[in-house]
Amino acid sequence: MEFSKPLIHWYLQNKRDLPWRKMPGAYPVWLSEIMLQQTRVAQGLPYFLRFMEAFPTVHDMAAAPEEQVLKLWQGLGYYSRARNLHATAKLVAFEMNGNFPDSYAGLLKLKGVGDYTAAAIASISYGEAVPVVDGNVYRVLSRVFGIDTDISSGGAKKQFTELAASLMPKGQASEFNQAMMEFGALQCVPKSPDCGKCIFNKDCVAFTTGRVAELPVKLKK
Ligand code: ADE
Repeated sequence: MEFSKPLIHWYLQNKRDLPWRKMPGAYPVWLSEIMLQQTRVAQGLPYFLRFMEAFPTVHDMAAAPEEQVLKLWQGLGYYSRARNLHATAKLVAFEMNGNFPDSYAGLLKLKGVGDYTAAAIASISYGEAVPVVDGNVYRVLSRVFGIDTDISSGGAKKQFTELAASLMPKGQASEFNQAMMEFGALQCVPKSPDCGKCIFNKDCVAFTTGRVAELPVKLKK
């Protein structure tokens, strides 16, 4: 079946108008991805806008006292994220001339930046062909392709990363990754997805075999 082409087509017609999607450079993408690590878009959005207003560039964030960063973060929780954010802003501003590392491997070395966040920034900001794999991606791929690997098992990450990489069209890493995130957030939702209006309902293994509610498989909590 065709997957990436209809997915990206769906994305271009249905994507939300999120501010970081229109802002140039890695800084807004990095900031938004750190904020969205344990936070929904609707909750994170006003924080993102307040941060960009207070700190339009990574230099502005680096120059601010940590208290100001923590104050603005108040309500988002997981305060280690805010402390890592500020530490990374200082590193990038003072040691890297304000330039974020320009590759997935370089980004991974930053505090608070794991696989997912490095892949998101590298693909969205630089077009690097690294797939993002998070809960949305597990859900979309497990359902469409009928994969019943336990997503809490050791091998799941590698299996889904390889599948996502094999589906990613050349030169479209940014669109493909954001399309996967958006499709998982808006269409292929965890509970009672509206499969009647899904572009994949003719081919989706979960839908055509009545297993939407069982996928993805997650054994341990
Ligand atoms: N969740 C995490 N990152 C996101 C992004 N770039 N777009 C939409 N939702 C997201």
